[in-house]
Amino acid sequence: MNQDADAQLKTFPHRHFLSCDGLTAPEINFLLDLADEAADRNRTVDKKRDVLDGKTVINLFFEASTRTQASFDLAGKRLGADVMNMLVASSSVQKGETLIDTAVTLNAMRPDIIVVRHHSAGAVELLSQKVVDCAVVNAGDGAHQHPTQALLDALTIRRAKGRIDGLTVAICGDILHSRVARSNINLLNAMSARVRIIAPSTLLPSNSDRLGAEVYTDMWKGLEDVDVVMMLRLQHERMDGAYVPSSREFFHFFGLDHEKLARAKPDALIMHPGPMNRGVEIASTVADHSRSVVREQVEMGVAVRMAVLEALSANLPQT
Ligand code: NCD
Repeated sequence: MNQDADAQLKTFPHRHFLSCDGLTAPEINFLLDLADEAADRNRTVDKKRDVLDGKTVINLFFEASTRTQASFDLAGKRLGADVMNMLVASSSVQKGETLIDTAVTLNAMRPDIIVVRHHSAGAVELLSQKVVDCAVVNAGDGAHQHPTQALLDALTIRRAKGRIDGLTVAICGDILHSRVARSNINLLNAMSARVRIIAPSTLLPSNSDRLGAEVYTDMWKGLEDVDVVMMLRLQHERMDGAYVPSSREFFHFFGLDHEKLARAKPDALIMHPGPMNRGVEIASTVADHSRSVVREQVEMGVAVRMAVLEALSANLPQT
């Protein structure tokens, strides 16, 4: 469908929020505008609203998380919802069975929105097919998607640069294991940004030339004149073997230090979804640089999650 990029939507036209793949510019703008208002309101004393009054949000995390879970928790509470946090320890039971059992159990508790993080790609979508009358939000599934992270990155960029379209964004590091990279590539393309991915060939997926980004294995070249440098964490927990010779060597070739940063535009933003491995993918002084927006990303995380919860709650069945 050929949608007018400037079209103004009145509602978000999806029941669940599972992926950035297939989101249109008007849908993204709808959520970013809602989040932008929430971000401004969050800076005042009147942070609370009642749009989710009487609604129940369950945060179901099968993987440890600090900022994502905390921000969904705060987002739900700021909108007046009852929020329950569940951290499910990983189990040796077959994944499919565990998930479907969990879905049946949760259904019985009549939640309105379930926010799910799971270590397997596709697990959140599977769960969304099993629940009745409730919306499901993907808070990260394996190395697949992390759509609210891409939205909060987009909001951070839009607030700092005034736009997203036409900017060149370099996503650097462990692309292979990164759901953040996949979601960002989808979203930034939908918003007409130019995306580059920069990684050693061992940390690039085999289909990297079809992801919708220019591929670089030389960071010095890849950072040339970019507007935004987005660093990724080396995802050791998803590696079954050695993908990089050593952290020191990785830092030498692919860590963001002042010399490599100097290749980017003089006003380039420095981003990282966190948690950061200082001295591995990013020099500590670069992480704390005046152009680093890592803290703004965390702040926008709450606003974006408020926007997603609010948008989905408007589509819940009324009876
Ligand atoms: C990311 C994640 O969990 O995918 N972090 C986050 O959501 N704040 C990236 C990461 O873990 O490196």
